[in-house]
Amino acid sequence: MNTAVDIRGLSVRFERGGSSVTALDRLDAVVPEGHVFGLLGPNGAGKTTLMHVLLGFLPPTAGQASIFGTDVRRAIARQRIGYLPEHPDTYRFLTARELLHTAGRLFGLRGRDLRSRSDALLERLDLTAAADRLAGTFSRGMLQRICLAQALINDPDLVILDEPTGGMDPFGRLRIREMIAELKARGKTVLLSSHELSEVELVCDTIAILYKGSVITAGSAAALVPAGESLERFFIRTIEAVDAGAADHAGKGAAHA
Ligand SMILES: Nc1ncnc2c1ncn2[C@@H]1O[C@H](COP(=O)(O)OP(=O)(O)OP(=O)(O)O)[C@@H](O)[C@H]1O
Ligand SMILES: [Mg+2]
Repeated sequence: MNTAVDIRGLSVRFERGGSSVTALDRLDAVVPEGHVFGLLGPNGAGKTTLMHVLLGFLPPTAGQASIFGTDVRRAIARQRIGYLPEHPDTYRFLTARELLHTAGRLFGLRGRDLRSRSDALLERLDLTAAADRLAGTFSRGMLQRICLAQALINDPDLVILDEPTGGMDPFGRLRIREMIAELKARGKTVLLSSHELSEVELVCDTIAILYKGSVITAGSAAALVPAGESLERFFIRTIEAVDAGAADHAGKGAAHA
């Protein structure tokens, strides 16, 4: 199987008022093509930062990452990506349909192709009835769905979704889950972050738990989580074990000092 995303020893440090924050710490991960890969991790673990590096928004301090074999520092790596940001927003003075037509034209789509692809996405994301309304009148969940439709207009091979179901009602979540299953069925790769562990368990082939900028464990939910334990319980236990290990280590260090 080919590799969609290859991340090796990736570090990102932010300088903040004279001190530095390590957002990613020698992170390694491989996402095979056609997989749905879920990034879990507490607030501040580094999920969004990792996505920003893959999207070329942030240069890594050390290490490297590639998408379909192309280094993410090269703009061409981004031509096959669709991206839903953590706090999606768009041009509120355009209607949903106009937004999709505008986004599609940026990728060279025209005429009947553009119209049929836009209509299909509006339908798929339950926005047909709102197609000719200004995005400025949309609820949060609707805004999220039109931004996802925009991200998919170019039929990307890698779809990066930063908390795609945050703020969505159960119907919206179901739509997103169905969209992800469809993308996978068509051989696309999906990298998503989420705090909704039950959703993650349903859609992801592989999950990676990120903490303090590193992957602390990765694999399929079935392989990672012991029978009878929930993914949520496993997640909390895993993070607590790292903290306990760090405290233990610090304690030993102090004893030696
Ligand atoms: N532009 C920035 N400048 C300084 N520090 C930053 C910047 N962006 C992120 N950070 C820090 O990097 C760390 C990782 O943040 P990041 O946003 O990647 O976390 P996250 O896992 O996406 O969290 P959440 O679940 O809350 O979305 C945090 O300590 C954050 O404060
Ligand atoms: Mg984030």
